Amino acid sequence: MAILVTGGAGYIGSVTVEMLTAQGETVVVVDNLSRGHRAAVDPGVQFYQGDVGDRDLVKRITDENQIESCIHFAAFAYVGESVEQPALYFQNNVGQGIALLDSLIKAGVDRIVFSSTCATYGEPQEVPIAETHPQHPTNPYGWSKFMIERALEACDHAYGLKFVALRYFNAAGATAAHGEHHEPESHLIPNVLRAALGHLSHVSVFGSDYETPDGTAIRDYIHVLDLASAHIAALQYLRGGGESTAINLGTGNGYSVLELIACAREVTGRTIEINLEPRRPGDPSRLVADDRKAREVLSWAPAHDNLAAIIQSAWTWHLAHPDGYPADDK
Ligand SMILES: NC(=O)c1ccc[n+]([C@@H]2O[C@H](COP(=O)([O-])OP(=O)(O)OC[C@H]3O[C@@H](n4cnc5c(N)ncnc54)[C@H](O)[C@@H]3O)[C@@H](O)[C@H]2O)c1
Repeated sequence: MAILVTGGAGYIGSVTVEMLTAQGETVVVVDNLSRGHRAAVDPGVQFYQGDVGDRDLVKRITDENQIESCIHFAAFAYVGESVEQPALYFQNNVGQGIALLDSLIKAGVDRIVFSSTCATYGEPQEVPIAETHPQHPTNPYGWSKFMIERALEACDHAYGLKFVALRYFNAAGATAAHGEHHEPESHLIPNVLRAALGHLSHVSVFGSDYETPDGTAIRDYIHVLDLASAHIAALQYLRGGGESTAINLGTGNGYSVLELIACAREVTGRTIEINLEPRRPGDPSRLVADDRKAREVLSWAPAHDNLAAIIQSAWTWHLAHPDGYPADDK
């Protein structure tokens, strides 16, 4: 029996595939490489290039492999891009996501672990944010994930599809083999490290007048290895007959942008220039997970919740791959 990993050529997907195969699981990856890298998928892993919304392709995959569950990472994930091109996000994340669910149900696959996000909560009313916090996304990206969560609930009700929606906070860090390479890059840590490598003249710090101790926004950074192990724990939970649910993945620790940059300067020993810029619309001041449910329901805890260690792992990957994955890997 195999696990279908969508988006397995992307950042979090590639690390999860690495961990699943290391644990002896059989994995099949589908990715259209629109944002991912062929080189991020081990040549020993069965790989299909194409869209998750391509029903013929997903039927071929489920016909050719005994798929018992799906981990669904494939999506577009830039908040700013989603504000500028909402149709692209609803089409890719929701339209294709629903087609995937339908294909899986028709093939008899009844377990899915879904990449959701803290962006489904919107502006927090209280921090740390628990799963019971109201969900009012402030951008189309967050809405696209919100909609798939609701579709999963309806599919559970109608067809008995069991799911865990994992609402991640900020993924960060790397393994020796797999790291974060997006074009353009919108995430803070890779941009900070690009500045440390001299590939960027400075790091833009968006907002220095938030109601936080140093005025910059506070986020909860979770190591990508901890995200991967949580997906495997969620899969085991479903295999054990667990009910459908939504679970935050964070560490419960918040760091400001300036704290993170200071930590990166220490880890890298390099100069990292910053530029203070206005707030970006829709960026909350503080996003920190209440991470108790993951510990209770999945018997999981982050093993790498030290910011310096997270940055060190990403720095090691960036030093080994200063230009990221090869450009001709599509
Ligand atoms: N990175 C984070 O901090 C973060 C936080 C919360 C949630 N998430 C979610 O986690 C998932 C993975 O994030 P990531 O940072 O690894 O992103 P990523 O862009 O590195 O990976 C996504 C992968 O999906 C593929 N893809 C996109 N649309 C597809 C489609 N229609 N068909 C087939 N393949 C498709 C891309 O080519 C890419 O390889 C996403 O769903 C994202 O929304 C990420």
